[in-house]
Amino acid sequence: MKHLKEEKTLVVLKPDAVQRALVGEILSRFERTGFKIVGMKMAYASKELAGEHYADDEEWLISVGEKTKQSYAAKGIANDEEPKSIGQRIRQQLMDFISMSPTVAFVLEGNDVINKVRVMIGGTAPNSALPGTIRGDFGFDSYGLADAAGRPIQNLIHASDSVESAKREIAIWFKEDELHSYERVDEALNYRIA
Ligand code: CDP
Ligand code: MG
Repeated sequence: MKHLKEEKTLVVLKPDAVQRALVGEILSRFERTGFKIVGMKMAYASKELAGEHYADDEEWLISVGEKTKQSYAAKGIANDEEPKSIGQRIRQQLMDFISMSPTVAFVLEGNDVINKVRVMIGGTAPNSALPGTIRGDFGFDSYGLADAAGRPIQNLIHASDSVESAKREIAIWFKEDELHSYERVDEALNYRIA
């Protein structure tokens, strides 16, 4: 079995984060938390890569549609569109968005990194993401504003949400020889067994 410190997640700073020059600011939060960068690149995603990343997966399409409907319901806005068709529309918009200008992709490694990074990025819509989170601190976009403009929510960052998705997504963005192994100076402190 792998050591707990070897858990990995994929993070992608989306075009809005790169265009707004927030790369260093965001990256440094993860470094300061103690996570190790084991792979990193600026990547201009092709439509093909974007389509693999936002896979045509029924469960994900429905979950994206459901979340959207909930945000409308919370605002008292009626919407009778099927969740799956909302998901399909958003997937197309996301594929265009993530491939419109360069992204910065990196793989982070560390104990419970998948969950912790999700906590650090905050909820999907920046207008309701908590302060202190990346989406909460650096954005205010909302489901309503994005839909009115016919574009995806600009929420700066993608992070894998499970062990399976991390494995799948890392393989889409990185070749094996683009991932590196080295020691951080605080590693003994963080992972030493007494
Ligand atoms: O990124 P996260 O895992 O928080 O959310 P998701 O439900 O997996 O959706 C993926 C991405 O779709 C989000 O990060 C948004 O950029 C976008 N999205 C959107 O633009 N409009 C929606 N109604 C739902 C999702
Ligand atoms: Mg997601």
